[in-house]
Amino acid sequence: MDEAKTVLGQLKARKSVRVWDGRDVPDDVRRAILEAATEAPTAGNQQLYSIIDVRDQAVKDELAELCDHQPFIASAPMVLVFIADCEKWRAIYAAAGVESRPAGPGDLLLACSDANIAAQNAVVAAWALGVGSCYIGDVLERCEAMRELLALPSQAMPACMLVFGYPTERQLARPKPERMPLSTVVMEDRYRPVDEASARAMVAGRSRARGFEPWVRAFHERKYASDFSREMSRSVALYLESFEDWDGGREDPA
Ligand SMILES: Cc1cc2nc3c(=O)[nH]c(=O)nc-3n(C[C@H](O)[C@H](O)[C@H](O)COP(=O)(O)O)c2cc1C
Repeated sequence: MDEAKTVLGQLKARKSVRVWDGRDVPDDVRRAILEAATEAPTAGNQQLYSIIDVRDQAVKDELAELCDHQPFIASAPMVLVFIADCEKWRAIYAAAGVESRPAGPGDLLLACSDANIAAQNAVVAAWALGVGSCYIGDVLERCEAMRELLALPSQAMPACMLVFGYPTERQLARPKPERMPLSTVVMEDRYRPVDEASARAMVAGRSRARGFEPWVRAFHERKYASDFSREMSRSVALYLESFEDWDGGREDPA
């Protein structure tokens, strides 16, 4: 029971950290985080992901620029890119002389799930070790430049990036942003469309001070209608082009 309390307490307490106190993350802590990542559940025990441990400062600097100019990426002592890796089992198949089809969209989404689940284990493990972290979804942007920077083959796509470091006192004191009420998140038995009351309830905690409509309008401008979100879709559409030939070579049923 005590162990459950500790785990639940850490899940509740964990929040994103974006300012580092300057200490490096020692090798044994790095290894513990990486090992925890690989203990995550994984589809068919295939580990359909690879983890790029970015040590080269020049690569960190470039990642910070490519991911919508976020300088705390460049200053993070530990940077991991979780790659949805649809190349690796094809390489295993090839090594065994097994002919395999190219990976398709289903394979890619499964690999993305695998990669993100491993990443979540990493951030939870890091928090338990006193190390803060932040997800960087913008790693989905700039497909062409990202492929070149990380030497990605066509059927490997970054699913997410994590930056790690020891938090400053101020970061630890920052209140964790409120989540939506559970009643608006959980649906019983089947999908329930969002009505206006529910929409208001979902963001009530955040929009109270400014008012619902102006707060939502500003949020929409900042996030959904932003250049970076359009760039993300353009970039991912390009990655997806490499997953269109999955049925290639399949004989039509007579
Ligand atoms: C998939 C994903 C992508 C994210 N991308 C970014 C990002 O690019 N930059 C950033 O500063 N935070 C990013 N975050 C962190 C979220 O902004 C953060 O989790 C959210 O605001 C809630 O705050 P909390 O984690 O402190 O509770 C991302 C989180 C997730 C799960």
